[in-house]
Amino acid sequence: MYNSVKKKFKTLVLAVAAQGLLTSTVAFADESKYGFGRTATQEEIAGWDIDIRPDGQGLPAGSGSVADGEGLYEAKCASCHGLFGEGEGRWPVLAGGEGTLAHERPEKTVGSYWPYASTLWDYTRRAMPFTAPQSLTADETYAITAYVLYLNEIVDEEFVLSKENFSTIKMPNEPNFFEDDRPDVKNTTCMKDCKDPASIKVVSTIAGVTPLEHLEEGAAETAAEAASETTHGKAIYNQSCAVCHDHGVAGSPKTGDADAWGDRIATGTEMLVKRAITGYVGDEGVMPPKGGNMSLSDEDVAEAVHYMIEKSQ
Ligand code: HEC
Ligand code: HEC
Repeated sequence: MYNSVKKKFKTLVLAVAAQGLLTSTVAFADESKYGFGRTATQEEIAGWDIDIRPDGQGLPAGSGSVADGEGLYEAKCASCHGLFGEGEGRWPVLAGGEGTLAHERPEKTVGSYWPYASTLWDYTRRAMPFTAPQSLTADETYAITAYVLYLNEIVDEEFVLSKENFSTIKMPNEPNFFEDDRPDVKNTTCMKDCKDPASIKVVSTIAGVTPLEHLEEGAAETAAEAASETTHGKAIYNQSCAVCHDHGVAGSPKTGDADAWGDRIATGTEMLVKRAITGYVGDEGVMPPKGGNMSLSDEDVAEAVHYMIEKSQ
Protein backbone atom coordinates (compact mmCIF):
# COMPACT_ATOMS: atom_id res chain seq x y z
CA MET A 1 0.00 0.00 0.00
CA TYR A 2 2.71 2.42 1.02
CA ASN A 3 4.79 1.40 -1.99
CA SER A 4 2.02 1.98 -4.44
CA VAL A 5 1.38 5.44 -3.00
CA LYS A 6 5.08 6.20 -3.26
CA LYS A 7 5.12 5.07 -6.89
CA LYS A 8 2.17 7.22 -7.71
CA PHE A 9 3.86 10.15 -6.03
CA LYS A 10 7.03 9.62 -8.05
CA THR A 11 5.12 9.39 -11.29
CA LEU A 12 3.31 12.54 -10.43
CA VAL A 13 6.50 14.46 -9.68
CA LEU A 14 8.15 13.20 -12.86
CA ALA A 15 5.18 14.14 -14.98
CA VAL A 16 5.06 17.57 -13.43
CA ALA A 17 8.80 18.05 -13.70
CA ALA A 18 8.57 17.29 -17.37
CA GLN A 19 6.16 20.15 -17.71
CA GLY A 20 8.56 22.45 -15.90
CA LEU A 21 6.11 23.07 -13.06
CA LEU A 22 8.05 21.29 -10.35
CA THR A 23 8.28 23.99 -7.67
CA SER A 24 4.68 25.03 -7.68
CA THR A 25 3.38 21.49 -7.50
CA VAL A 26 5.75 19.94 -4.95
CA ALA A 27 3.84 21.69 -2.17
CA PHE A 28 0.66 20.15 -3.49
CA ALA A 29 2.25 16.69 -3.63
CA ASP A 30 3.45 17.10 -0.01
CA GLU A 31 0.09 18.13 1.36
CA SER A 32 -1.77 15.39 -0.36
CA LYS A 33 0.63 12.72 0.92
CA TYR A 34 -1.69 11.65 3.72
CA GLY A 35 -4.77 13.27 2.33
CA PHE A 36 -5.37 15.68 5.20
CA GLY A 37 -3.94 18.67 7.04
CA ARG A 38 -2.05 21.62 5.64
CA THR A 39 1.37 23.19 6.03
CA ALA A 40 1.64 25.35 9.17
CA THR A 41 2.04 29.07 8.51
CA GLN A 42 5.12 31.01 9.66
CA GLU A 43 2.96 32.76 12.29
CA GLU A 44 1.70 29.46 13.66
CA ILE A 45 5.20 28.04 13.90
CA ALA A 46 6.42 31.21 15.63
CA GLY A 47 3.61 30.83 18.18
CA TRP A 48 4.85 27.40 19.19
CA ASP A 49 8.57 27.97 18.77
CA ILE A 50 9.15 29.92 21.99
CA ASP A 51 11.78 27.88 23.82
CA ILE A 52 14.85 29.67 25.16
CA ARG A 53 18.19 27.89 25.30
CA PRO A 54 20.64 28.20 28.20
CA ASP A 55 22.84 30.58 26.17
CA GLY A 56 19.82 32.83 25.56
CA GLN A 57 19.19 31.73 22.00
CA GLY A 58 15.53 32.22 21.19
CA LEU A 59 15.04 35.29 23.39
CA PRO A 60 13.02 38.11 21.83
CA ALA A 61 14.37 41.67 21.82
CA GLY A 62 13.62 43.64 24.95
CA SER A 63 14.71 44.45 28.48
CA GLY A 64 13.38 45.05 31.96
CA SER A 65 14.77 46.33 35.27
CA VAL A 66 14.61 44.91 38.78
CA ALA A 67 12.76 48.09 39.75
CA ASP A 68 10.05 47.57 37.12
CA GLY A 69 9.95 43.90 37.98
CA GLU A 70 9.15 44.62 41.62
CA GLY A 71 5.79 46.24 40.85
CA LEU A 72 4.88 43.67 38.24
CA TYR A 73 5.82 40.80 40.53
CA GLU A 74 3.78 42.22 43.40
CA ALA A 75 0.75 42.61 41.16
CA LYS A 76 0.97 39.36 39.22
CA CYS A 77 2.97 36.82 41.23
CA ALA A 78 3.14 37.64 44.93
CA SER A 79 -0.40 36.48 45.74
CA CYS A 80 0.82 32.90 45.22
CA HIS A 81 4.61 33.01 45.47
CA GLY A 82 4.85 35.49 48.35
CA LEU A 83 6.26 39.04 48.42
CA PHE A 84 9.82 37.75 48.77
CA GLY A 85 9.40 34.51 46.82
CA GLU A 86 8.83 32.61 50.07
CA GLY A 87 5.58 31.05 48.75
CA GLU A 88 2.12 31.68 50.20
CA GLY A 89 0.62 28.63 51.84
CA ARG A 90 1.66 25.66 49.78
CA TRP A 91 2.39 27.53 46.52
CA PRO A 92 5.92 27.02 45.19
CA VAL A 93 8.81 28.85 46.86
CA LEU A 94 10.88 30.83 44.33
CA ALA A 95 13.75 32.16 46.43
CA GLY A 96 16.13 31.01 49.15
CA GLY A 97 17.12 27.46 50.04
CA GLU A 98 20.81 27.90 49.20
CA GLY A 99 22.94 25.14 50.66
CA THR A 100 20.00 22.85 51.45
CA LEU A 101 20.33 20.47 48.50
CA ALA A 102 22.20 17.87 50.53
CA HIS A 103 19.74 18.08 53.42
CA GLU A 104 17.12 15.47 54.08
CA ARG A 105 14.44 17.95 52.96
CA PRO A 106 16.16 20.11 50.34
CA GLU A 107 14.48 23.37 49.38
CA LYS A 108 14.74 23.50 45.61
CA THR A 109 14.16 27.00 44.30
CA VAL A 110 15.16 29.03 41.27
CA GLY A 111 18.21 30.23 43.22
CA SER A 112 19.22 27.07 45.02
CA TYR A 113 18.56 24.54 42.29
CA TRP A 114 17.93 25.80 38.76
CA PRO A 115 21.02 25.60 36.54
CA TYR A 116 20.08 28.25 33.95
CA ALA A 117 18.28 31.58 34.05
CA SER A 118 16.81 30.78 30.64
CA THR A 119 14.45 28.30 32.32
CA LEU A 120 13.11 31.08 34.52
CA TRP A 121 12.51 33.36 31.56
CA ASP A 122 10.99 30.59 29.46
CA TYR A 123 8.82 29.17 32.25
CA THR A 124 7.53 32.56 33.34
CA ARG A 125 6.52 33.51 29.82
CA ARG A 126 5.13 30.11 28.96
CA ALA A 127 3.22 29.21 32.11
CA MET A 128 2.85 32.14 34.53
CA PRO A 129 0.86 33.76 36.03
CA PHE A 130 -0.77 30.41 36.66
CA THR A 131 -4.22 31.75 35.74
CA ALA A 132 -3.10 33.72 32.65
CA PRO A 133 -0.19 31.98 30.94
CA GLN A 134 1.49 33.75 28.00
CA SER A 135 -0.11 37.05 28.93
CA LEU A 136 3.18 38.83 29.74
CA THR A 137 4.97 40.99 27.16
CA ALA A 138 8.66 40.39 26.46
CA ASP A 139 9.68 43.47 28.50
CA GLU A 140 7.49 42.41 31.43
CA THR A 141 9.05 38.97 31.34
CA TYR A 142 12.57 40.48 31.39
CA ALA A 143 11.61 42.71 34.34
CA ILE A 144 9.97 39.93 36.39
CA THR A 145 12.85 37.55 35.65
CA ALA A 146 15.30 40.23 36.80
CA TYR A 147 13.28 40.68 39.99
CA VAL A 148 13.17 36.95 40.79
CA LEU A 149 16.94 36.83 40.22
CA TYR A 150 17.24 39.78 42.59
CA LEU A 151 15.14 37.99 45.23
CA ASN A 152 17.69 35.20 44.96
CA GLU A 153 20.60 37.65 45.34
CA ILE A 154 21.92 36.77 41.90
CA VAL A 155 21.72 40.37 40.57
CA ASP A 156 21.67 43.70 42.45
CA GLU A 157 18.77 46.14 42.63
CA GLU A 158 20.13 48.38 39.85
CA PHE A 159 20.23 45.54 37.36
CA VAL A 160 18.52 45.77 33.97
CA LEU A 161 18.14 42.41 32.20
CA SER A 162 18.12 42.37 28.42
CA LYS A 163 18.54 40.05 25.47
CA GLU A 164 22.11 41.37 25.18
CA ASN A 165 23.34 40.70 28.73
CA PHE A 166 21.26 37.59 29.37
CA SER A 167 24.09 35.12 28.83
CA THR A 168 26.20 36.82 31.53
CA ILE A 169 23.85 35.53 34.26
CA LYS A 170 25.39 32.55 36.04
CA MET A 171 23.21 30.52 38.37
CA PRO A 172 24.84 29.34 41.63
CA ASN A 173 23.96 25.67 41.15
CA GLU A 174 25.01 25.36 37.50
CA PRO A 175 28.35 23.61 38.27
CA ASN A 176 26.46 20.76 39.92
CA PHE A 177 24.78 19.84 36.65
CA PHE A 178 27.06 17.84 34.41
CA GLU A 179 26.89 15.43 31.54
CA ASP A 180 26.21 11.85 32.53
CA ASP A 181 29.54 10.12 31.95
CA ARG A 182 28.44 6.52 32.45
CA PRO A 183 29.36 4.36 29.46
CA ASP A 184 25.81 3.44 28.49
CA VAL A 185 25.06 7.14 28.03
CA LYS A 186 28.38 8.59 26.96
CA ASN A 187 30.10 6.22 24.61
CA THR A 188 31.36 6.30 21.06
CA THR A 189 28.94 4.94 18.57
CA CYS A 190 30.35 1.98 16.69
CA MET A 191 30.15 2.67 12.96
CA LYS A 192 31.93 -0.34 11.44
CA ASP A 193 33.05 -3.88 12.30
CA CYS A 194 30.67 -3.75 15.22
CA LYS A 195 29.78 -6.65 17.48
CA ASP A 196 26.87 -8.78 16.43
CA PRO A 197 24.12 -7.60 18.80
CA ALA A 198 23.09 -11.22 19.33
CA SER A 199 26.50 -11.96 20.84
CA ILE A 200 26.17 -9.36 23.59
CA LYS A 201 25.40 -10.89 26.99
CA VAL A 202 23.74 -9.28 29.94
CA VAL A 203 26.11 -9.52 32.90
CA SER A 204 24.14 -7.89 35.65
CA THR A 205 20.64 -9.15 36.31
CA ILE A 206 17.80 -8.60 38.70
CA ALA A 207 15.86 -11.76 39.41
CA GLY A 208 12.31 -11.63 38.14
CA VAL A 209 13.00 -8.41 36.24
CA THR A 210 15.81 -9.09 33.78
CA PRO A 211 14.76 -11.43 30.96
CA LEU A 212 17.24 -14.31 30.80
CA GLU A 213 15.82 -16.37 27.91
CA HIS A 214 18.25 -14.93 25.40
CA LEU A 215 21.35 -16.03 27.34
CA GLU A 216 23.20 -19.14 26.31
CA GLU A 217 22.34 -22.27 28.20
CA GLY A 218 24.35 -22.50 31.38
CA ALA A 219 25.02 -18.77 31.37
CA ALA A 220 21.37 -18.21 32.11
CA GLU A 221 21.39 -20.54 35.10
CA THR A 222 24.57 -19.06 36.51
CA ALA A 223 23.27 -15.55 36.12
CA ALA A 224 19.88 -16.46 37.54
CA GLU A 225 21.46 -18.26 40.47
CA ALA A 226 23.80 -15.44 41.28
CA ALA A 227 20.98 -12.97 40.92
CA SER A 228 18.60 -14.89 43.16
CA GLU A 229 21.19 -15.72 45.79
CA THR A 230 22.20 -12.19 46.60
CA THR A 231 20.03 -9.70 44.79
CA HIS A 232 16.78 -11.47 45.48
CA GLY A 233 17.53 -12.10 49.14
CA LYS A 234 18.54 -8.49 49.55
CA ALA A 235 15.39 -7.26 47.82
CA ILE A 236 13.17 -9.40 50.05
CA TYR A 237 15.08 -8.22 53.09
CA ASN A 238 14.74 -4.56 52.15
CA GLN A 239 11.06 -4.97 51.50
CA SER A 240 9.96 -7.04 54.49
CA CYS A 241 12.68 -7.32 57.12
CA ALA A 242 14.70 -4.11 57.11
CA VAL A 243 12.07 -2.09 59.01
CA CYS A 244 13.01 -4.02 62.15
CA HIS A 245 16.40 -5.57 61.48
CA ASP A 246 18.18 -2.54 60.03
CA HIS A 247 18.16 -0.81 63.39
CA GLY A 248 17.33 -3.54 65.86
CA VAL A 249 13.76 -2.36 66.30
CA ALA A 250 11.52 -4.26 68.77
CA GLY A 251 14.40 -6.33 70.14
CA SER A 252 15.38 -7.78 66.76
CA PRO A 253 19.05 -8.62 66.17
CA LYS A 254 20.50 -5.84 64.04
CA THR A 255 21.75 -6.95 60.62
CA GLY A 256 25.52 -6.53 60.47
CA ASP A 257 25.95 -6.77 64.25
CA ALA A 258 28.16 -9.86 64.64
CA ASP A 259 27.69 -9.94 68.44
CA ALA A 260 23.92 -10.02 68.20
CA TRP A 261 24.07 -12.76 65.58
CA GLY A 262 26.95 -14.97 66.82
CA ASP A 263 24.89 -17.32 69.03
CA ARG A 264 22.00 -17.34 66.65
CA ILE A 265 24.16 -18.29 63.67
CA ALA A 266 25.70 -21.05 65.83
CA THR A 267 22.27 -22.72 66.10
CA GLY A 268 22.43 -23.35 62.36
CA THR A 269 21.00 -21.77 59.25
CA GLU A 270 18.22 -24.32 59.03
CA MET A 271 16.85 -23.41 62.43
CA LEU A 272 17.02 -19.69 61.70
CA VAL A 273 15.17 -20.12 58.43
CA LYS A 274 12.52 -22.22 60.15
CA ARG A 275 11.98 -19.62 62.87
CA ALA A 276 11.85 -16.81 60.33
CA ILE A 277 9.13 -18.70 58.44
CA THR A 278 6.97 -19.85 61.34
CA GLY A 279 7.67 -16.95 63.64
CA TYR A 280 9.44 -17.05 66.97
CA VAL A 281 9.08 -15.65 70.46
CA GLY A 282 12.49 -15.32 72.11
CA ASP A 283 13.97 -13.50 75.07
CA GLU A 284 14.33 -10.29 73.13
CA GLY A 285 10.94 -10.00 71.46
CA VAL A 286 8.61 -11.38 68.85
CA MET A 287 9.73 -12.30 65.36
CA PRO A 288 6.44 -12.41 63.39
CA PRO A 289 6.03 -15.27 60.86
CA LYS A 290 7.72 -14.22 57.58
CA GLY A 291 8.24 -10.79 59.13
CA GLY A 292 4.50 -10.24 58.80
CA ASN A 293 4.50 -10.52 55.01
CA MET A 294 2.57 -13.72 54.35
CA SER A 295 2.79 -13.25 50.58
CA LEU A 296 6.45 -14.34 50.75
CA SER A 297 7.25 -17.93 49.81
CA ASP A 298 9.39 -20.05 52.14
CA GLU A 299 12.24 -19.71 49.60
CA ASP A 300 11.94 -15.92 49.69
CA VAL A 301 12.32 -15.93 53.46
CA ALA A 302 15.23 -18.39 53.28
CA GLU A 303 17.07 -16.14 50.84
CA ALA A 304 16.49 -13.13 53.07
CA VAL A 305 17.89 -15.09 56.04
CA HIS A 306 20.94 -16.13 53.98
CA TYR A 307 21.47 -12.50 53.10
CA MET A 308 21.20 -11.45 56.76
CA ILE A 309 23.63 -14.14 57.92
CA GLU A 310 26.12 -13.20 55.21
CA LYS A 311 25.96 -9.56 56.36
CA SER A 312 26.27 -10.39 60.05
CA GLN A 313 29.28 -12.68 60.29
C1 HEC B 1 -2.50 31.65 41.05
C2 HEC B 1 -1.23 31.28 41.64
C3 HEC B 1 0.03 31.68 40.87
C4 HEC B 1 0.41 32.89 40.39
C5 HEC B 1 -0.36 34.19 40.45
C6 HEC B 1 1.72 32.72 39.82
N1 HEC B 1 2.13 31.43 39.96
FE1 HEC B 1 3.94 30.69 39.49
N2 HEC B 1 3.35 28.86 40.05
C7 HEC B 1 2.10 28.53 40.51
C8 HEC B 1 1.97 27.08 40.59
C9 HEC B 1 0.75 26.30 41.03
C10 HEC B 1 3.20 26.55 40.16
C11 HEC B 1 3.59 25.09 40.00
C12 HEC B 1 3.13 24.66 38.66
C13 HEC B 1 3.50 23.25 38.34
O1 HEC B 1 4.33 22.65 39.02
O2 HEC B 1 2.93 22.73 37.36
C14 HEC B 1 4.05 27.70 39.87
C15 HEC B 1 5.36 27.57 39.47
C16 HEC B 1 6.18 28.64 39.22
C17 HEC B 1 7.59 28.54 38.98
C18 HEC B 1 8.40 27.26 39.02
C19 HEC B 1 8.78 26.96 40.45
C20 HEC B 1 9.57 25.67 40.58
O3 HEC B 1 10.53 25.63 41.35
O4 HEC B 1 9.22 24.68 39.91
C21 HEC B 1 8.04 29.80 38.72
C22 HEC B 1 9.48 30.19 38.40
C23 HEC B 1 6.91 30.67 38.80
N3 HEC B 1 5.80 29.94 39.11
C24 HEC B 1 6.96 32.03 38.56
C25 HEC B 1 5.84 32.85 38.61
C26 HEC B 1 5.88 34.22 38.24
C27 HEC B 1 7.12 34.95 37.78
C28 HEC B 1 4.61 34.70 38.38
C29 HEC B 1 4.09 36.07 38.06
C30 HEC B 1 4.25 36.48 36.69
C31 HEC B 1 3.79 33.61 38.88
N4 HEC B 1 4.57 32.49 38.97
C32 HEC B 1 2.45 33.73 39.23
C33 HEC B 1 1.11 29.43 40.87
C34 HEC B 1 1.13 30.76 40.58
C1 HEC C 1 8.31 -6.46 63.33
C2 HEC C 1 9.76 -6.62 63.43
C3 HEC C 1 10.41 -7.74 62.64
C4 HEC C 1 10.35 -7.95 61.27
C5 HEC C 1 9.57 -7.16 60.23
C6 HEC C 1 11.21 -9.07 61.00
N1 HEC C 1 11.77 -9.52 62.15
FE1 HEC C 1 13.09 -11.05 62.35
N2 HEC C 1 13.14 -10.81 64.34
C7 HEC C 1 12.44 -9.85 65.04
C8 HEC C 1 12.74 -9.98 66.46
C9 HEC C 1 12.17 -9.12 67.58
C10 HEC C 1 13.65 -11.05 66.57
C11 HEC C 1 14.31 -11.56 67.85
C12 HEC C 1 13.44 -12.51 68.62
C13 HEC C 1 14.18 -12.95 69.84
O1 HEC C 1 15.19 -13.65 69.67
O2 HEC C 1 13.75 -12.60 70.93
C14 HEC C 1 13.87 -11.52 65.21
C15 HEC C 1 14.72 -12.57 64.92
C16 HEC C 1 14.99 -13.00 63.64
C17 HEC C 1 15.90 -14.07 63.34
C18 HEC C 1 16.73 -14.87 64.32
C19 HEC C 1 15.94 -16.02 64.81
C20 HEC C 1 16.71 -16.82 65.85
O3 HEC C 1 16.45 -18.00 65.93
O4 HEC C 1 17.55 -16.26 66.57
C21 HEC C 1 15.89 -14.25 61.98
C22 HEC C 1 16.69 -15.23 61.17
C23 HEC C 1 14.95 -13.28 61.45
N3 HEC C 1 14.42 -12.53 62.49
C24 HEC C 1 14.68 -13.14 60.11
C25 HEC C 1 13.76 -12.23 59.61
C26 HEC C 1 13.42 -12.13 58.23
C27 HEC C 1 13.98 -13.00 57.11
C28 HEC C 1 12.52 -11.14 58.12
C29 HEC C 1 11.84 -10.65 56.85
C30 HEC C 1 11.18 -11.65 56.01
C31 HEC C 1 12.29 -10.61 59.44
N4 HEC C 1 13.06 -11.29 60.32
C32 HEC C 1 11.42 -9.56 59.74
C33 HEC C 1 11.61 -8.88 64.52
C34 HEC C 1 11.30 -8.74 63.18
